[in-house]
Amino acid sequence: ARTVTRNTDGAAEVGGLDVRDLAEEFGTPAYFLDEEDFRARCHAWRDAFGEGADVFYAGKAFLSRAVVKWLFEEGLNLDVCSGGELAVALSAGMPADRIALHGNNKSLEEIERAIEVGVGRIVLDSFQEIVRVAHVAERLGKRQRVQIRVTVGVEAHTHEFIATAHEDQKFGLALAGGQAAEAVRRVLKLDALDLVGIHSHIGSQIFDMAGFEVAARRVVSLLAEVRDEHGVELPEIDLGGGLGIAYTSEDDPAEPHDIARALREIVTRECEANRLGVPRLSVEPGRAIVGPTAFTLYEVGTVKPLEGLRTYVSVDGGMSDNIRTALYDAEYSVSLVSRTSTAEPMLARVVGKHCESGDIVVKDAFLPADLAPGDLLAVPATGAYCRSMASNYNHALRPPVVAVNDGGARVIVRRETEDDLLRLDVG
Ligand code: LLP
Repeated sequence: ARTVTRNTDGAAEVGGLDVRDLAEEFGTPAYFLDEEDFRARCHAWRDAFGEGADVFYAGKAFLSRAVVKWLFEEGLNLDVCSGGELAVALSAGMPADRIALHGNNKSLEEIERAIEVGVGRIVLDSFQEIVRVAHVAERLGKRQRVQIRVTVGVEAHTHEFIATAHEDQKFGLALAGGQAAEAVRRVLKLDALDLVGIHSHIGSQIFDMAGFEVAARRVVSLLAEVRDEHGVELPEIDLGGGLGIAYTSEDDPAEPHDIARALREIVTRECEANRLGVPRLSVEPGRAIVGPTAFTLYEVGTVKPLEGLRTYVSVDGGMSDNIRTALYDAEYSVSLVSRTSTAEPMLARVVGKHCESGDIVVKDAFLPADLAPGDLLAVPATGAYCRSMASNYNHALRPPVVAVNDGGARVIVRRETEDDLLRLDVG
């Protein structure tokens, strides 16, 4: 993300804008997303993978119409995993052939819509879905490009709930035991399906390339098996997303160029070893593109020192705008941004305003001991899986997303209002 500078008052500035003015204009809590940084990351991924590969941004990390336009302009494709994400993508003008549809339980409506509009690929996740997608395509008189999602049996070193390639979970068809090979057999028999490749996604917030290495090796050996059994060389491999970002100074993420080089090398080497042509590679980064581009701005409401323990600092949001700490024990950092302070640091826990004690935004943080109501705190790296996983718990109004550009800021997702909440109540 762009470096945050301090102005002569000691307040932080982003893109030349004082955070106190941002808070005044847009209210708190709010997410501020650096458009230039977002575009630069898209560009870096695109550039790193080059013409021979595709980068599908994973819309689940954060999606809005503005984001779709930026992706389109920067030459990225888009991975959606629900009818809702597909609707946003189409309404913002993403060409359907640049969209991939994922999901372990796509509804008939979702499948129909996707095939009707002509999405570039549907990633098949089960035997039943193979039949379902084929039926719809046949009925609509179309031949649908599909990939098969396989689980490669890798333990990604990440939180259990965001690791997806081990065998005991709901996604994909296992390579082990021949499920994946059987799926290939069934898909190849169906005229309405055009099998273009194999997909693997091993998990999220991963730093170690070893998992991708194993995944690539196993996916390529499936391609070799398919060639041997059916005489077909499938032209595509997708290795999913999952590249980690720095939430705190302890994380050290790789650059897109290094990731691209590593993946290309692994795939090329494995293909050569199996005497296969090198398939077209695609990846699906979500967090790595949008995560670092945004921070959440909160206002401090109450400060409660607990003798001998720590000080609880309550802000005006919480688990409704960032569930990740409560859900995954995620680590975040936080800083006082409306002023500088020379006060001693105190051990603090930044908590939200929701009615439960697990409502924690930042578990352990050192903040100045003179922290007071009205101070503004910024939590960086909240671009991914914060607004997209935001909820209305306690009838909270979900915060806006404000795109910050050099010298300007504009709302790209507005703050919810009480009317928004009441509109859903019937009677
Ligand atoms: N492709 C597939 C098939 C996926 O399932 C995912 C994430 C991605 C790509 C993008 O992964 P990324 O590059 O963003 O790590 N809510 C969790 C993360 C769940 C991710 C689910 N799938 C979190 O807040 O950490």
